[in-house]
Amino acid sequence: SRTAVVIPAAGRGVRLGPGAPKALRALNGTPMLIHAVRAMAESRAVSLVVVVAPPDGAQEVKTLLDDHALPDRTDFVVVPGGDSRQESVRAGLDALPPGIDIVLVHDAARPLVPVDTVDGVIEAVRDGAPAVVPALPLADTVKQVGPAEAPDAPEPVVATPERATLRAVQTPQGFDHATLRRAHDTVTEAVTDDAGMVERLGLPVVVVPGHEEAFKVTRPLDLVLAEAVLARRRA
Ligand code: CTP
Ligand code: MG
Repeated sequence: SRTAVVIPAAGRGVRLGPGAPKALRALNGTPMLIHAVRAMAESRAVSLVVVVAPPDGAQEVKTLLDDHALPDRTDFVVVPGGDSRQESVRAGLDALPPGIDIVLVHDAARPLVPVDTVDGVIEAVRDGAPAVVPALPLADTVKQVGPAEAPDAPEPVVATPERATLRAVQTPQGFDHATLRRAHDTVTEAVTDDAGMVERLGLPVVVVPGHEEAFKVTRPLDLVLAEAVLARRRA
């Protein structure tokens, strides 16, 4: 079986503040995207990585991949992304060659995921799950809120789901290729993760253990954490 990874990397990174597109910003001197690509290519099961670049940045991303050492056994393709993550993932799927059985979708914004997490996801798909998500229990209690009664009034709490039943979902998420393709061809609602589209098809999605180092770089404090993790690895 052949496994490919689609890496959506086309976002601006608005929550990170002004600067280059998030995936192109450096972590300890190396672009976040390169860390993410290496994290995927480190898995011996991965034979192809499709990077979905910022719409006007495909050439820059190709140059970056050429300029950084990457494993020979893996092929790399770059395509331009879209306005939403969902559109970017679809652009990546459209670039897959025939013969790919398993597809992983991995955020460029999760550059430090360990290879054991990647391999755990692939193994669960190989074992027959159509969709697999790595996830962790929550530290915070989560509350559902309703709309405020006036623009300056506080939001009312509507419900508190039992924390022990909740999981924070990471990437890479893994899929049977035909299933993810069908989800993208069928589901029209906006979703925030790829497994959510498979759920809309009524198919089972299973959870495998995530990893704390697979956190998403979203806000400036996450850059501090990511650089500290890299420094600890080198120590
Ligand atoms: N992404 C993408 N295409 C988009 C939007 C997001 O490929 N149109 C990618 C991002 O590059 C990132 C992943 O989806 O790797 C997760 O998205 P997120 O963390 O929200 O990144 P951004 O959208 O760039 O950040 P922000 O929402 O703060 O602008
Ligand atoms: Mg976003």
